[in-house]
Amino acid sequence: MSNNKIELIKNTLDIVDVIQEYVDLSKKGKNYWGVCPFHDDSNPSMSVSPEKQMYKCFSCDKAGGIFKFVQDIEKISFYEAAEKLGNKAGVEINLIKSEPKYNERQKKLIDALNDAMDYYQASIDSEDAINALDYANKRGLNSKIREKFKIGYAPKKGLINYLTKIRHHNESDLINASLMNSIGEDFMKDRLIFGIANEFGDTIAMSGRTLKNDQAKYINSSESLIFKKSHILYNWNNANKVAKKNNELILVEGFMDVIALYKANIENVVAIMGTALTKENINKIRGLKIILMFDSDKAGISATIKSIRILLENGIKTYVAQNPSGIDPDELFNSKGEKAIKEIIDNRITALEFIYISHKNKYDISKIEEIEKFVESFKKYLIYASPVERDFLINKIKNELGVSREILVKDLKINKTIVKAQTTHNENKVLNQKKNEYNQEKYDIKYNKSAYILIRSLLKSKSLSEYYDRKRHEINYVDRTLPIIGTYIIAAHRGIEKIPNKYKKYIKEKINLEGETIEKNEDLDDIIKVINKNHKSYEKNKNRIKFNKKKDGNYGKSN
Ligand code: UTP
Ligand code: MN
Repeated sequence: MSNNKIELIKNTLDIVDVIQEYVDLSKKGKNYWGVCPFHDDSNPSMSVSPEKQMYKCFSCDKAGGIFKFVQDIEKISFYEAAEKLGNKAGVEINLIKSEPKYNERQKKLIDALNDAMDYYQASIDSEDAINALDYANKRGLNSKIREKFKIGYAPKKGLINYLTKIRHHNESDLINASLMNSIGEDFMKDRLIFGIANEFGDTIAMSGRTLKNDQAKYINSSESLIFKKSHILYNWNNANKVAKKNNELILVEGFMDVIALYKANIENVVAIMGTALTKENINKIRGLKIILMFDSDKAGISATIKSIRILLENGIKTYVAQNPSGIDPDELFNSKGEKAIKEIIDNRITALEFIYISHKNKYDISKIEEIEKFVESFKKYLIYASPVERDFLINKIKNELGVSREILVKDLKINKTIVKAQTTHNENKVLNQKKNEYNQEKYDIKYNKSAYILIRSLLKSKSLSEYYDRKRHEINYVDRTLPIIGTYIIAAHRGIEKIPNKYKKYIKEKINLEGETIEKNEDLDDIIKVINKNHKSYEKNKNRIKFNKKKDGNYGKSN
C-alpha cells in the first residue's frame, strides 16, 4: 500500500465527517466536541480539530487521525481501516502488493522454474509416479491441495530434456535455478516437489521430499539471484492478505503443517522452513500478532523459545498455541480434525506464560540455587511483558516460588531494542507508560520500602498500632497516602471505623502483604528513623526524579 494513497485519502476526507458517523459532534469555537466512544463517559470530552485533522479525548487521552479512529472504533487492522476509508474517499486500496520488478537474469530463472513446476505438476499423474501419487494421497495432498500449493513430482529424469529441447532454456540458467546439477543431471530425483513462491506468487525455489525414509528428508534449491532462504516465509503469498485482515499470523515449522492448517480452513499461516526467524521475516510480519505453533518435541520447544526472543525483542506481540505432546499440527489434523486445530489456536497462551511454564519444567524449584537461576533467566523475558502482564507474572512467581516483588524488579531494565522497535511503530505512549511504571516501582523500592514494611506490620498487630499512634507525628512519609492509611489502621483495630475500599485497594496494589514485617516497639523506632532518612534524601533528590507521577493515562510528556 503506497504512502501516496494514504495521503490522498487523508486529503480527501474530513475528520469531522468521518467521526460524525459514529459520534454526535457539536461545534464550539474552532473545534468540534462529542462524547468519547472509547471510555465510559457522558460528558463531551473529545475534541475534533478540523484544522489539525486530529481528535483527542481529554479524559482518556485517546488521540489520533482518521485511520486510528476507525481502527479503534471498528476494532480492525490498519489495512482494513485504510480499505474502508479508501472506499469512502474513492481511492482504491489493494491489499496485495504491486507488481514485482525483476531484472533480465532473474526473469530467466523464474521462467525456468515456472516451466519446471508445470512439468512436475503434470508428472504426478504419469505412470511412473504411482508411488508418489500414492504417498501424496496418503498424506492428504489431493489434487485440489496440489494445485493450490504447487505440489508435483520430480521423476528420476526427463526435466532437463523438456526444459532445454522444448522450452529452450539455457543450461546455465538451469544450474543457477537448481534444476540441473553440475554433472548435467536433474537436481531433484524421485521426490515429491513443493514449489516455494515469493510474495508475488512466483515460484523461486523448490523443496523435494523423499518418498522413502532416507537421510535427506527434504532437499532444497540452493540460494540464487531470486532465492534467499532467509527472506522466505513459506505460503506468505497466500497468507498475507488474510493475516493483515485478522491482524494475526500463525507460524508453523514445516510445509505439511501449513497445509494441515489450510485444510482446517485457516489461511493466515506460514512456515519458517526449518530455519530460525530472520530479520527479513520480522520486517514482513511487523505489525501483526504472531501465534507460534511448532512441534511439541524438544526441537520444537527450543525453536519456540528462540523465536519468542526474536519476536519480543522486536516489539511483536507473541502467543504460543500448544500442541498435545509429541504431535505436530499435521498429525493433529489427521488424527483429530479441524476442531482440534482450532481449539489449540483459541487456547493460545502469551509468550511470557509459555516461557514461565518452560522455566518451571527446566528448573527444580525445590532448590534455592535453581530458583535463583530461574529468576535470573526469567527477568530477561520479563522486560518485554506489558505492565499488566508483568504484574500478573510477578505475583505468580511470588506465590508459586516465594520470590519477592523487589527481587524480581531489581535491575529490571527496559530493553533498548524494544524501545526502538516500538518507537518506530508509534507506540510511544505504551512505552512511556511502561517506563513510568518501571520508574515508579524503582522509586517505591528506594524511598517507600520501609514505610511499606511499617504499614504491613501495623495491619498485623494491634499493639504495634497503639504504639504507632503515639509516634506517628514524628514520621515524614514520602508517599503521602501512607499517613492516612496509618490512622485508618489504628481506627480499624479499635473497631471504630473500617478501612475505606479506596485505601484497601491501595494497600493491595502497593504493599505486598506477605512481605517482611516488624513486631517490637523498638523495631518501630528504628524503622521511623529509616523512613525519615529516606524522606530527607527524597527531598534532596526531588528535582532529579524525572518521571511524571500524574495519574494513569497522563504519561504523555515524560521521556
Ligand atoms: P519437519 O521435519 O517438521 O517436516 O521439518 P514436515 O514439514 O513436518 O514434513 P513431514 O511431515 O515430516 O513430511 C520442518 C521443515 O524443515 C525443513 C522443511 O522446510 C520442513 O518443512 N526441512 C526439514 C528441510 O529443509 N530439510 C530437512 O531435511 C528437513
Ligand atoms: Mn510433519
